[in-house]
Amino acid sequence: MKNGSDVTVRPARNVRGTVSLPGDKSISHRYAMLAGIADGPSRIENYSTGADCASTLGCMRSLGVIWERKEDGAIEVQGSGLSLAAPAAALDCGNSGSTMRMLSGIVAGQKFPSEMVGDESLSRRPMERVITPLSAMGAHIASQAGKPPLRITGAALKAIDYTMPVASAQVKSCLLFAGLFADGETRITEPLRTRDHGEVALRAFGATLDRRSNGQGNELRIRGAQRLRGIEARIPGDLSSAAFFLCAAALFPGSQLTIPGLLMNPTRARLLDVLMQIGLRISVTQLDEIHGELVGSLQVEGAGLKGATIAGADSAALIDEIPVLAAIAPYTEQGIEVRDARELRVKESDRIAAVAANLRLMGAQVEEREDGLKIPGGQTLHGAELDSFGDHRIAMAFAIAALRARGETLIRGAESAAISYPAFFQTLEAVVER
Ligand code: S3P
Repeated sequence: MKNGSDVTVRPARNVRGTVSLPGDKSISHRYAMLAGIADGPSRIENYSTGADCASTLGCMRSLGVIWERKEDGAIEVQGSGLSLAAPAAALDCGNSGSTMRMLSGIVAGQKFPSEMVGDESLSRRPMERVITPLSAMGAHIASQAGKPPLRITGAALKAIDYTMPVASAQVKSCLLFAGLFADGETRITEPLRTRDHGEVALRAFGATLDRRSNGQGNELRIRGAQRLRGIEARIPGDLSSAAFFLCAAALFPGSQLTIPGLLMNPTRARLLDVLMQIGLRISVTQLDEIHGELVGSLQVEGAGLKGATIAGADSAALIDEIPVLAAIAPYTEQGIEVRDARELRVKESDRIAAVAANLRLMGAQVEEREDGLKIPGGQTLHGAELDSFGDHRIAMAFAIAALRARGETLIRGAESAAISYPAFFQTLEAVVER
């Protein structure tokens, strides 16, 4: 089914089997960064296999952190403590916004200057959301009109009390990490509660931080100069990667999938509510907690395909899963409407435009809006030649849409799936029945 970087996806009858997912991308980035600045060794099992999380590990190595990948796949990190080493060259963040945004909070607190660079897509993405508060903390950051590359001159940081204008977990983690290097107590308020892996990970590595609600939203407080200690952990399966298989199961009434060891963190699990509302039957067993992260085994059965509206706080909570939900929307009974999701325009690609373009190529009717999409249900799609726009989630979302189209679909630039999930197409083939 593969030809170079293009992948052909044929229609399916249903999906059945067991899918074990590599570790969650959001948690992997944070564990790699915190293990690097902890005291003592850490061992991380089921670290994300995606290129983005490899970029984070590469940057940590450039900052003097010693780590190795063991034969069993685990990453063993020798923590450097809070003081890292000056990098000999620019820190290459590749395609990874998470790496650049979160790591900027750590390098801003170092005694040396660093340059952070990214690929063409990352070089177009907004960074003023971290530049503004880190500058207020005392770092000096030069950029290309708010975009990468970033030249960060570290400083002895001052604690700030900052209300984030954009709900972004990456920015929240960046500032919490910077707070470790600040003099005093840093307070950060986010307008909506976003994924809390930064908070959970900081606690797992031994830091203390407080959370409360204030008039503006969710407030976090962290004191500076806290030392972290290394941990031994197994990262739960990536819920955003699971979304592709869950949506595939939702497409066919006869589908049955088991996904063991999956991340069930409540700040990420809104996806499961929406899929149940659409008609997927989901049951969870073996619920457990590992270092503060909830994990469970999921059994799902395709049953119905009703519609949904995703808006407000749900759009922030589902931001990475909206492309695949939108890609299956034409097959639902009532369609799917997405509002308040303007952030999708500044992801690895403009995901609103990319979804609309590909759905139209498959013959769907789509209304594209500034902050979302309205996709009517009850449509029949045909196979087409599609572009991934160099965006992993677009490549994978349309592999799922293609399963119920008439005829074959060619996805150009499908190799971009490797940014978060290199084995995606092989795993999909293994559970698809035709
Ligand atoms: C992430 C937060 C989200 C998400 C990204 C991962 C994280 O980005 O889209 O894939 O790990 O914190 P924003 O912080 O820009 O919303």
